[in-house]
Amino acid sequence: MDSRIFEQWEANAEDYTTLVNGMGTPHHRKILNPCVERLLGDVRGKRLLDAGCGEGYLSQYYAKHGADVVGVDISEKMIALCKQRPYDESIEFFVGDICSLDFIENSSFDLVLCNLVLLNVPCFLDALQEFFRTLKFKGLLVFSIIHPAFNVFGPGRWVLDEKSPDSGRRKGRYFVFDNYFDEKEYLIQWKTRAGTPFPKQFSFFHRSISTYVKALTSSGFRLLDLEEPRPVDDDPFFERERRIPFFLVLKAEKLER
Ligand SMILES: C[S@@+](CC[C@H](N)C(=O)[O-])C[C@H]1O[C@@H](n2cnc3c(N)ncnc32)[C@H](O)[C@@H]1O
Repeated sequence: MDSRIFEQWEANAEDYTTLVNGMGTPHHRKILNPCVERLLGDVRGKRLLDAGCGEGYLSQYYAKHGADVVGVDISEKMIALCKQRPYDESIEFFVGDICSLDFIENSSFDLVLCNLVLLNVPCFLDALQEFFRTLKFKGLLVFSIIHPAFNVFGPGRWVLDEKSPDSGRRKGRYFVFDNYFDEKEYLIQWKTRAGTPFPKQFSFFHRSISTYVKALTSSGFRLLDLEEPRPVDDDPFFERERRIPFFLVLKAEKLER
């Protein structure tokens, strides 16, 4: 277990949980989650690993939709927060590192969901190998990241105009990006909705799209789909995200036994 990453999520667990608020942020609800759900397909009766489950709202969502869910997170506080909520009793939550899932048997899941986690994980190759090992033959992995080519938690940033009266959010003038191929760690300070800094900075590991795709195929997966989800409606709040994708979502299948 990477103690630095563990400490970041432990320190920030409560602020992160308040931000996500049991249902995801507007970006999650109106851009990412509908795409992830479509790529996962029908989850009824399937065994689903929510790898890096956070405060567990997606574990709960997919359990409600008929999946048999196991949630794993590196942060003890996050898992304690999952257990405090009135979440479906069938969900099993574990503290664990997705890079070393030795407490999970081989070929025991139909689906692995890894939502906005791999970009915070230094050992992401180990995580992919663990997903491969714990998935059944033909099992599906769906993972999402911040879009590497427009990575605002890495080398990218918007240059902004004044606030739009329609949305209360600043409009994008243009997007600045450089050093795409320079794969490295960025320390990012998040803020609460009230503008207070989170207790610790987060580590974000910037990697190119080809690095992710090659890692998938070298771990034994076949890439089935790649999506750059757009906002689901014309809410003026997402003026920037309609112009440039915020998330990237990949779906892959375990090819061998
Ligand atoms: C951005 S949050 C996403 C949480 C959840 N998947 C969601 O979509 O709400 C990233 C989560 O990954 C967890 N995490 C980071 N590194 C991990 C690791 N190596 N193993 C397990 N969980 C990890 C963090 O504790 C945090 O809860």
